[in-house]
Amino acid sequence: KILILDFGSQVTQLIARRVREAHVYSELHSFDVSIDFIRDFKPTGIILSGGPNSVYESDYQADAALFELGVPVLGICYGMQWMAQSLGGKVDGGHVREFGYAEIRARNHSKLFRDLQDRSNEQGHGLLDVWMSHGDKVTALPQGFSVIAENPSCPIAAMADEDRGFYGVQFHPEVTHTIKGRDMINRFVLDICGAKPSWTMPNYVDQAVEKIREQVGDEEVILGLSGGVDSSVAAALIHRAIGDRLTCVFVDNGLLRLNEGEQVMNIFNKHLGVKVIHVDATAQFMGHLAGVSDPEAKRKIIGREFVEVFQAEAAKLPKAKWLAQGTIYPDVIESAGAKTKKAHTIKSHHNVGGLPETLNLKLLEPLRELFKDEVRELGVALGLPHEMVYRHPFPGPGLGVRVLGEVKQNFCDLLRRADAIFIDELRAADWYDKTSQAFAVFLPVKSVGVMGDGRTYEYVVALRAVQTSDFMTAKWAELPYDLLGKVSNRIINEVRGINRVVYDVSGKPPATIEWE
Ligand code: XMP
Repeated sequence: KILILDFGSQVTQLIARRVREAHVYSELHSFDVSIDFIRDFKPTGIILSGGPNSVYESDYQADAALFELGVPVLGICYGMQWMAQSLGGKVDGGHVREFGYAEIRARNHSKLFRDLQDRSNEQGHGLLDVWMSHGDKVTALPQGFSVIAENPSCPIAAMADEDRGFYGVQFHPEVTHTIKGRDMINRFVLDICGAKPSWTMPNYVDQAVEKIREQVGDEEVILGLSGGVDSSVAAALIHRAIGDRLTCVFVDNGLLRLNEGEQVMNIFNKHLGVKVIHVDATAQFMGHLAGVSDPEAKRKIIGREFVEVFQAEAAKLPKAKWLAQGTIYPDVIESAGAKTKKAHTIKSHHNVGGLPETLNLKLLEPLRELFKDEVRELGVALGLPHEMVYRHPFPGPGLGVRVLGEVKQNFCDLLRRADAIFIDELRAADWYDKTSQAFAVFLPVKSVGVMGDGRTYEYVVALRAVQTSDFMTAKWAELPYDLLGKVSNRIINEVRGINRVVYDVSGKPPATIEWE
């Protein structure tokens, strides 16, 4: 397994993902972990990430004893600079910042680049397109190193001490802009470190099942099933491990999408044979939401009522000693980069994660090691339908934040039907998988329309479809006009009470993905 030390780059998680895509298990930890931790981890190789700092800031130093463990090390950007500085080279700061595409000449004798090229120059030297983003750079090599890539503005674009397996690259091989980046990571992990490519989902199922059995023993587990990807995959996995000793609680808060409750019961209860308690708490949620129009207040109520309902169900299962949750790896990474990222969370996100400690249950989080795409692969390996596993994310408060202002039952009903038509048509036109999130929003304003000879005075629905890789920024999807036209026609014809459909063409930022 590969240890990645995070010095705070925005893209460190991508390194971990690229390594796992090479079917090698990797973990990401903060740069300041102790040398004992690193030794106990028993890494096959170590990757040092990039970071926004300068090696002359004393706060951003890892323990250089890691160079004495006898394992290969790859330093990326800041990681390379820190490697150079720690091993006796020189780093210069304050030059022009380089940001974006760069062309480098790579030396074919290096194991890292051998036979990798995007094109060659007149002399037949291999050239590579890479993504650079840095201010400082290495200006003198440490002893034992040689230059393995260069370009005019960065004469030491990559360096290596092939004997010790130490490599440094000034560019970012983990981002897709570096066209051969994936090959370089594979090269380092598989050839240079000699890691075995055994990290595959079918392998992982057996391992994870074994671990759950060991952890839980003969006790019982309770899980809040939302129908979302994470809780669904967690449920399927735990069920595979302990069968009937898992009980899922599915709370219908009245804010779900069309037929969602039935679908969840069909897949889990009928198809997989999982014990699921289906609680219809619509009346309770609607009651508490009556008269409330502030989005944050709605979120709080929905979160609070969920806990209430869940607790009541848990109380009926005194044998349950474990609370299972679909926490995934990006939720638990406590790294230099994540620390700053978390500061930007603007909305009070309600998730099943908010269950109180008064439940007195031990936590079972079998997806803690997995990235989202791995969770999906695992879901498929466990036999969950592709449609469920590759579903767009759906916010915890559900339609509660998609009916703007006060949430009323009939508004939810209208929205559910409009939303289902939109999603149906997206799927039919092969656009669902090309968007990251798509949904309808109910606007509680009435506008005039004509229908036959009469005037109508009815509500408006907005359609929202976005494309994004991380949901922090997003662009609106350029859906074809004929698709939008068809959706609009169907909604207006089929959903009585709606006479106008608009399409949201706002990017994030400054708009958010949800309307509340
Ligand atoms: P925004 O609207 O902030 O949404 O651009 C970013 C992503 O977060 C989801 N979202 C939520 N998820 N509880 C959730 O579990 C919430 O209160 C919540 N608000 C927004 C949103 O659907 C999008 O995927």
